[in-house]
Amino acid sequence: MEPSGMQINYTSSLDGVTPERLQGFFVGWPNPPSPATHLEILRGSDEVVLAIDERSGDVVGFITATTDRVISAFIPHLEVLPKFQGNGIGSELVRRMLRKLERFYSIDLMCDPDVQPFYERLGLRPYSGMVMRRFENQSGQRPQA
Ligand SMILES: CC(C)(COP(=O)(O)OP(=O)(O)OC[C@H]1O[C@@H](n2cnc3c(N)ncnc32)[C@H](O)[C@@H]1OP(=O)(O)O)[C@@H](O)C(=O)NCCC(=O)NCCS
Repeated sequence: MEPSGMQINYTSSLDGVTPERLQGFFVGWPNPPSPATHLEILRGSDEVVLAIDERSGDVVGFITATTDRVISAFIPHLEVLPKFQGNGIGSELVRRMLRKLERFYSIDLMCDPDVQPFYERLGLRPYSGMVMRRFENQSGQRPQA
């Protein structure tokens, strides 16, 4: 639960979400997507849940999923702005996304070992995986034609 005074609204609607409402994400990424590209990522995802600070109207947390629409889903992004972390927002975003993905057989995500206890509390379990990362593509910026 959020502390009293902090009112967070959860939504899957992107209505009214502009790049200006998407500031401060991708903390620590060497080549982060811009807020405008972040909005493209949200629009391109099969499922999205946003946490919005009622006071400012800003997005303070988000989770996305991509799926094959039959049995498999993947959660590429979950992030809560540093100032808002530790208030249950990340857990609520995961719970809401898992409900949206209820019909799928596999729900996969990658995370650092230190975040595994966070996900285990929400019903996921550690597994092994393989990845490729093309850092030159991290910002999502396409070369000009
Ligand atoms: C992981 C993250 C989304 C959690 O959001 P949050 O709103 O702080 O989550 P909650 O308040 O619901 O839960 C916080 C709990 O997770 C734990 N936790 C979160 N990130 C952690 C980390 N990197 N290492 C260890 N514990 C972590 C906290 O210690 C806390 O535990 P507690 O309830 O026992 O104190 C947030 O820390 C974040 O955005 N981190 C940076 C991006 C990231 O790591 N995303 C996940 C990538 S898959």
